[in-house]
Amino acid sequence: MTAKAQILMTRPTHYEVAYEINSWMKPGVWSAGPKAQKAAARASWSTLRAALEASGAQIHDMPGAKGVPDLVFPANAAVVLDGKALLARFRHPQRRREEPHNRLALEGLRARGIIKEVVSFDDDLFQEGAGDCLWDSARGLFWVASGPRSSLGSVDRIARVFGEEVVHMPLATERYYHLDTCFCPLSGGEVLYYPPALSEAALAALHARTRSDQRLEARDQDAAGFCVNAVNLGRTIIMARPPAHLAARLEERGYRVIGVDLDPFILSGGGAFCMTLRLDHMAPPLTTRRAA
Ligand code: ARG
Repeated sequence: MTAKAQILMTRPTHYEVAYEINSWMKPGVWSAGPKAQKAAARASWSTLRAALEASGAQIHDMPGAKGVPDLVFPANAAVVLDGKALLARFRHPQRRREEPHNRLALEGLRARGIIKEVVSFDDDLFQEGAGDCLWDSARGLFWVASGPRSSLGSVDRIARVFGEEVVHMPLATERYYHLDTCFCPLSGGEVLYYPPALSEAALAALHARTRSDQRLEARDQDAAGFCVNAVNLGRTIIMARPPAHLAARLEERGYRVIGVDLDPFILSGGGAFCMTLRLDHMAPPLTTRRAA
């Protein structure tokens, strides 16, 4: 039996769309019906959580807090590998207020033995956690973005902190502001990605690391529906409701696709992956690695 995936989620008790730091955020839509939005967000969050649990994950809850509505997106809290959590540093002041909450939550997980160590950056750079740093379990490496949110300097820093290979993926647009909005490595070695969101350099790096049959291009509609922002647990992929063609393509590859209505969170520019932080990713042991 394989161990359960360990996932952190933040309860949506204080979630709202109150400011605008990406082009998906619509505070006006939220404030036109906050009660209904809040109820929809609670239902949506619970459905996602239930889908993750039904797919074999163990969920660790972090409480929401007043004044930090985007705490509901813990993918941005840290990069976690081998039990070591590197705390994020946010670019926008609205989200910088989340940092003490993230530290507290991760220290709590350390105290409970779920992770082993919490570390932070020792200088002035921005890095928005797993949102811009995706672990590829099939290849044993990090895909790391610089762009609208994370600084260029964070790429080498991540390599040094974790001692793992990183592939730099510079982002091309403000619209797809985190790598997880446009890029999703899958357990079987395929990568689901949205080409217009990636720079030439990122596309070249992707092509160098993948075979053509492993590259699954998302269409405009898939990316705009936050379907690329998916949680992959073994052969299951959980995402915002996918168009039929996307579900069919993934099913052809042997994946089971679960679509969840995440509209209240897409209104803040987030999907399934953003709403989770995987705590148990492990690098392959040195003995199993190919000689360089
Ligand atoms: N409103 C949030 C922001 O703009 C959404 C974050 C979504 N998270 C993610 N990992 N893409 O920062």
